[in-house]
Amino acid sequence: MSRSDLIAMARHNLAHTKAGTIDQAPEIHSIPAKDYFDAERWQKEMDGVFRRMPLMLAMTCELREPGDYKAMDAGGVPVLISRGRDGVARAFLNSCSHRGAQIMEEGKGNTHRFTCPYHAWSYSTEGELKGVLAKEQFGDLDFSCHGLPELPLYERSGLIWVVLNTEEKVDFDAFMAGYDDVLGEFGFEDWTFFQARRLEGPNWKVAYDGYLDLYHLPILHKETFGSNMPHQALYYSWGPHQRVSSPSPDLLDIEHKPEAEWPQDMLLQGVFTIFPHISIASFDGGGGRGVMLSQLFPGDTPLSSYTIQNYVLEKAPTAEQEVAADAQFKFLETVVKDEDYATGLKLQRALASGLRKNLMFGRNEEGGQRFHGWVDRLIEADDASLPKLFEDVERTVAQL
Ligand code: FES
Ligand SMILES: [Fe+2]
Repeated sequence: MSRSDLIAMARHNLAHTKAGTIDQAPEIHSIPAKDYFDAERWQKEMDGVFRRMPLMLAMTCELREPGDYKAMDAGGVPVLISRGRDGVARAFLNSCSHRGAQIMEEGKGNTHRFTCPYHAWSYSTEGELKGVLAKEQFGDLDFSCHGLPELPLYERSGLIWVVLNTEEKVDFDAFMAGYDDVLGEFGFEDWTFFQARRLEGPNWKVAYDGYLDLYHLPILHKETFGSNMPHQALYYSWGPHQRVSSPSPDLLDIEHKPEAEWPQDMLLQGVFTIFPHISIASFDGGGGRGVMLSQLFPGDTPLSSYTIQNYVLEKAPTAEQEVAADAQFKFLETVVKDEDYATGLKLQRALASGLRKNLMFGRNEEGGQRFHGWVDRLIEADDASLPKLFEDVERTVAQL
């Protein structure tokens, strides 16, 4: 089913490549500059988007074995993801039931107990309270009521989503609109986690706009990789999630072969974003086939964000490939930091002056238009109207 979606997108791409055209939004879309720096608006985005929507926080290959865990900051919320002895991944607030201390330092590892550094209360990998220091003196305590607060978690297609809210506000499958199956075409379950690093950046939407934007590639990135890159973009959506690819002359070479022989990596070219904060871009080089999976998180203020760049390889690298992959990813870090985010940090200073009222997304920037449209709708929707918002969402692939 999802490979047929990939084929449909490739055929759509071929038709545009031959005609020298792209899909265009009906109109140029204007958005208030204030949406990028206004504190009240930003708080609404935190509450309406980041604390309500599932966020893709980890990959299966980061915690494959029972006892594997990942402790991380997710936009200000300390999260602990753990694979229990039963093989099931669970997510918890990384905060002790006694007086709330952060239990695990950020990082990954394998353990059979999570022990709080403050007074040594301990928890199982399934989040149950197991040990209390001097429990006779502490007083009567029903251990079964004092496990770690569990957050909803979904593991699909080698990716792990967590909701930063103990109460679920949106149906996961409705939210994904079938996109998790499409992502399944990467086969991430069997990939190898290579490296991760953190970059500081501008407002989360200033940063995220760049991931949906191919228009800037041959301009902003002309000195590094963009001089021969097309600026045309083709967008495909599954509700709020979008894939962006460029017209691809390479497809002309395989057009007349049976579809079953169309290479998977060619069908997966471009950037697969996951709303509201993930970008997955494919690379193929001396390090072998891989992706840079970027996770954007809002910082402490409207004018800051940080990005975890994760590098994941399809196959475990040889020593030689490791060197090449390391160099490739260092290069990508430099491009994002010195070109994309440096530009974003400067542009948001101008916006924050309040002297510019609006920004534009052209008819060729449908992806940005759709992204901002979803953020707007979500922050306006109360919890009760959320299911309606995700009912029968648009899947552009179904219309191809
Ligand atoms: S806060 Fe964790 S044991 Fe006291
Ligand atoms: Fe860029």
